[in-house]
Amino acid sequence: MTLLAGKTVLVTGGGSGIGRATSIAAAREGATLIVADINSDAAEETAEEIRHAGGFADAAGLDISDAAAVEGLFNSLELERKRIDCAFNNAGINSAAAGANMKLADVSPEAWARMMNVNLTGTFLTLRAELRHMRAAGGGSIVNTASIAGLFGMANAGAYSVSKHGIVGLTRAAARDHAADAIRVNAVCPGFVDTGFLQNALAQAGPQLVASVPLGRVGQPADIAELVVWLLSDRAAYVTGAAYIVDGGQTV
Ligand SMILES: NC(=O)c1ccc[n+]([C@@H]2O[C@H](COP(=O)([O-])OP(=O)(O)OC[C@H]3O[C@@H](n4cnc5c(N)ncnc54)[C@H](O)[C@@H]3O)[C@@H](O)[C@H]2O)c1
Repeated sequence: MTLLAGKTVLVTGGGSGIGRATSIAAAREGATLIVADINSDAAEETAEEIRHAGGFADAAGLDISDAAAVEGLFNSLELERKRIDCAFNNAGINSAAAGANMKLADVSPEAWARMMNVNLTGTFLTLRAELRHMRAAGGGSIVNTASIAGLFGMANAGAYSVSKHGIVGLTRAAARDHAADAIRVNAVCPGFVDTGFLQNALAQAGPQLVASVPLGRVGQPADIAELVVWLLSDRAAYVTGAAYIVDGGQTV
């Protein structure tokens, strides 16, 4: 249990679902966590769960789409002389939250902008701050949460799908630009994962969703966390610019 011993890991969207499971898995592997989420109470709950299990974690309220807030978090970490070795850029919203759960022809410019502001610009803003911080510190490892919708078109979720394609693109661009700075950047592309994000879809069409997955179940947050922890660690030293599908075989 020492894959991330001595490392400090920043997780966005760490208050629930995949981000919470990954924070807990990283702490179990010896990392010190900074759990960030727009829902600061949820981030604090994750941090408290880690501390209760004997690990080390702080919580931070953060809206990833607020450029000044992202800069403020990194300024305060640097003032405290904290070094971020690894980052998991995972915060995101679904189509319903943006008001964009419809065919692309019917998506309003406002819903499009809401989706892009959080999922794409927010990921860019945190990624940019991490790249600057890690470049100055001599290296690091970053994982971004995309989706299988970032590799294929997804019905009635065009804006979401485009935002996640953008995250795959950001991952590849950052990996190429910053390999020489000893920074690795990868993405994970989950299929259906049992979190609040998927609650409505599971309630409406749970059996059909499960039937579309060759492994016969939807994913659990821990299924994604295992891969993310490995990608963040030095065990993945020769992996950069990759987008890993974790979907129980759904897209095979
Ligand atoms: N659940 C799935 O089926 C699935 C599939 C593929 C990809 N994903 C992606 O996984 C990531 C995590 O989602 P999840 O399934 O764990 O859902 P979730 O809703 O449990 O977690 C998302 C977290 O992000 C936080 N968040 C939302 N907007 C934010 C913002 N502006 N700034 C900071 N935090 C913010 C939320 O408060 C929440 O804690 C998302 O990027 C999502 O697109 C999920």
